[in-house]
Amino acid sequence: MYNLLKGKKGIIFGALNQHSIAWKTAQRAHEEGAEFVLTNAPAAMRMGELDVLAKKTGSQIIAADATSIDDLENLVEKSMEILGGKIDFVLHSIGMSVNVRKGKSYTDPNYDFTTKGWDVSAVSFHKLLNVLYKKEAMNPWGSIVALTYMAAQRSFPDYNDMADNKAYLESIARSFGYFFGRDHKVRVNTISQSPTPTTAGTGVKGFDGFITYSEKMSPLGNATALECADYTISMFSDLTKKVTLQNLFHDGGFSNMGVSDAVMERFE
Ligand SMILES: NC(=O)c1ccc[n+]([C@@H]2O[C@H](COP(=O)([O-])OP(=O)(O)OC[C@H]3O[C@@H](n4cnc5c(N)ncnc54)[C@H](O)[C@@H]3O)[C@@H](O)[C@H]2O)c1
Repeated sequence: MYNLLKGKKGIIFGALNQHSIAWKTAQRAHEEGAEFVLTNAPAAMRMGELDVLAKKTGSQIIAADATSIDDLENLVEKSMEILGGKIDFVLHSIGMSVNVRKGKSYTDPNYDFTTKGWDVSAVSFHKLLNVLYKKEAMNPWGSIVALTYMAAQRSFPDYNDMADNKAYLESIARSFGYFFGRDHKVRVNTISQSPTPTTAGTGVKGFDGFITYSEKMSPLGNATALECADYTISMFSDLTKKVTLQNLFHDGGFSNMGVSDAVMERFE
């Protein structure tokens, strides 16, 4: 390991189980010398798996529903107490669509579900940035990353309203990122990751076929959760200090492909 995050302090949202991208990121951050607080929604805590990760990484856990400003304020204040100072990096690794969960179609959703989904998946990022900004909780040259998917730019019918939520999320990174850069010298980016077999990922209809298609379309193949963690660590490190307001594709090249030989073979 490279000590890329030695002396850095962070908050990591969204580690649900060992498959989660946030789980791998926490493991890699620990290996690179960081100290951090782990957080997830109270309901996710009840599964108890986060305790295992906390033990392995010597971290404390603070429950927070990312849609609640009160919870986020408590999380940020307590994190600074526990870590003994301001924060250098934050990972927002949160996504959930009630319409997807309940099997509603994109063309005929339940709009209360739509509202809940964008609050959890996108507005929560604005709320988090707001709390960090107001409390001046970030150190200069800190880095904030949220995870997204390319359905924000292109049509993927089964991604349902998560496509709209991701477009909203990516826009928040650019819009709030301006103010964070100007006022606090903090960078804000989104990483657009390949389909990945996690709890959230496999909840998308047709996931198995789609992940294989994506693998065949990408010259380097799909990026794994661990590879996403590695990329995220580089974005938290001092090696990427002038990268901000970006949506960064981490997808083995998928996003710039038209068609590949492997896919063409199926139609010839
Ligand atoms: N898996 C994929 O194919 C894929 C691809 C691109 C981007 N992403 C994104 O990566 C991120 C992480 O997802 P993952 O694939 O690791 O799945 P995951 O299911 O392991 O993680 C999703 C997390 O969101 C948390 N969450 C849900 N509601 C919350 C709330 N109200 N407050 C706080 N946390 C809440 C869950 O508890 C869970 O830990 C998500 O933003 C997801 O959209 C995933």
